[in-house]
Amino acid sequence: MCGIIGFIGQNAQKTILNGLELLEYRGYDSAGLAMRTQKMKNTEIFKCKGRVRDLRNIVPEEDNASGCGIGHTRWATHGGVCDQNAHPHKSGKVTLVHNGIIENYADLTEEYELEDVLVSETDTEVVAALLDKYYDGDPQKTIWHVAKKLRGTYALVIMFEDIPDRIFAIRNVSPIVVTTKDDNAILASDPAALYQFSKSYFVLPEESILCMEQGTIRMTDQAGNLIEPEYQTVDWEVESVGKKGYPFFMEKEIMEQPEAIKRILEHYIKNDEISFAEEKIPDEVLYSFDHICIVACGTALHAGMIGQTLLKRWANMRVDVEMASEFMYSDTRVDEHTLFIAVSQSGETIDTMGALKKAKECGATCLAILNVRGSSISREADYVLYTDAGPEIAVASTKAYTTQLLIFYLFALKAATLKGLMGKEEFKEALGELKKLPNAMTKILEMKNEIHLLSKEVVTAPDLFMIGRGLDYLVLLEGALKLKEISYIHTEAYAAGELKHGTIALITEGTPVIAAVTQKPLLAKSLSNVKEIKARGANVVLLTRSGLTKEIEGGYHVIELPDLSDAFMPFLEIEALQLYAYFVSSDKGLDVDKPRNLAKVVTVE
Ligand code: F6R
Repeated sequence: MCGIIGFIGQNAQKTILNGLELLEYRGYDSAGLAMRTQKMKNTEIFKCKGRVRDLRNIVPEEDNASGCGIGHTRWATHGGVCDQNAHPHKSGKVTLVHNGIIENYADLTEEYELEDVLVSETDTEVVAALLDKYYDGDPQKTIWHVAKKLRGTYALVIMFEDIPDRIFAIRNVSPIVVTTKDDNAILASDPAALYQFSKSYFVLPEESILCMEQGTIRMTDQAGNLIEPEYQTVDWEVESVGKKGYPFFMEKEIMEQPEAIKRILEHYIKNDEISFAEEKIPDEVLYSFDHICIVACGTALHAGMIGQTLLKRWANMRVDVEMASEFMYSDTRVDEHTLFIAVSQSGETIDTMGALKKAKECGATCLAILNVRGSSISREADYVLYTDAGPEIAVASTKAYTTQLLIFYLFALKAATLKGLMGKEEFKEALGELKKLPNAMTKILEMKNEIHLLSKEVVTAPDLFMIGRGLDYLVLLEGALKLKEISYIHTEAYAAGELKHGTIALITEGTPVIAAVTQKPLLAKSLSNVKEIKARGANVVLLTRSGLTKEIEGGYHVIELPDLSDAFMPFLEIEALQLYAYFVSSDKGLDVDKPRNLAKVVTVE
């Protein structure tokens, strides 16, 4: 989860601080850096609770000195949020930063009697103490020796006091990416921090140690053999990492959705056919499996739930959807007859990765729907479909969701045609609806002032309910997650028909409810559920589409979405809900992009 960086070269302090700011979305409860320049006799450490901007206040005035340094933005796992638990940690000659979890830190502390040298409550400091205990002037040998004792996940970036011009790194599961330019060498937990130098980078392989010196890098395996880096290039624009004038990344990313959808449509639809040929996905993968198992977390899981509906509806497939964290320990059977689909924006979520590894062990064919190229999950999956939505920096996922949805639509439509379950006309109509998406989604963005006005009513509300049926319900699950994670309003999405089996007891005079009513066959039933809560005093906003408004009586606040056919409405509904959540959060004066307790990349179980 945490952001880590290591740098050797010109303007070291400035580069590390700027890089940490780009990585801050990975964790932002504390920040720190360790520096060594020619002027310094020892490694100097600055760290504090809070953001990188707080760290900037305690580091000495920036100079242009070249040097060597490591930095960290923390998402606390072991030990509370305080200056002492912030990284880097120093023990004797060793200074390090860490991303991941050392599961056996307590056993190591006891076995190697480290209690007396530890000053923090972190698992990380135990590694620093162990390295120092064994350090004999040979960094690689010491690192291998200690790494063998560690259980858990880690990306460790290490400096040794007596080797002031080198940085070492090793990892297990948690990512480290590396690049060089001229006299500079840089590593980080995420390519976002490298774009300032290069669009090409490599992923540090597991089972290897990286040694960075000014402008050069060297990787070796345990036997000391050199390992050649495998460079890859990202095609994201460097500017796409910035806010482009928006106050928050989330707004910028919401606004980018029509363009991202257009890009995917252009990529996958050629001559009015859906093609995954460039991704080298054989047709059999789309139709020959008895069983599909979709696994993901959070927003990606919500996209998977809609994928499940489409695959059942259009391609008559047997589809399970499971939370990755539950799948790991569940009895869901996957085998060689299963197509396992992992969905992940970051491609680094540890639960999703663990689930995919389990599915592979059971013989399933694994497809991943990912945004970040070269991510850990991309390296494990048999096939990958990329959403290529560009960097998503705001913690609350927006464009990743709609682009994941689109991949499922394309996949289900293609599967349906290959299975002979969808006729030419129906397929043509569906493609027509997909092609309307960029314009229709732009129209929602143009409604932002109207949505903002409506959202003002709930800024002080403690609770909010969202109700809907079918696809409406599934998209509300995502809408509710958006609102709760960035506005801290307790929000629950309910299947409208289920409400009266208990939850309706919570509806009282003035309770805010967003009711999504866009699915024609469910209209009458959904509207009667809306009337039931209205009769109990709920303050209802109806999210509906222009083709249905005639059939709805007055007395509601209405967000009227453009008319697409039923199956395609989720794209429009979610944009409206994202904007709604965004405005509530920003009107509350919250840090929209960095909600409390969260981090963008979840690399702990
Ligand atoms: C919510 C959100 C999270 C992520 C989840 C999975 O806005 O972003 O729920 O969707 O942590 O992350 P990825 O997609 O990176 O696997």
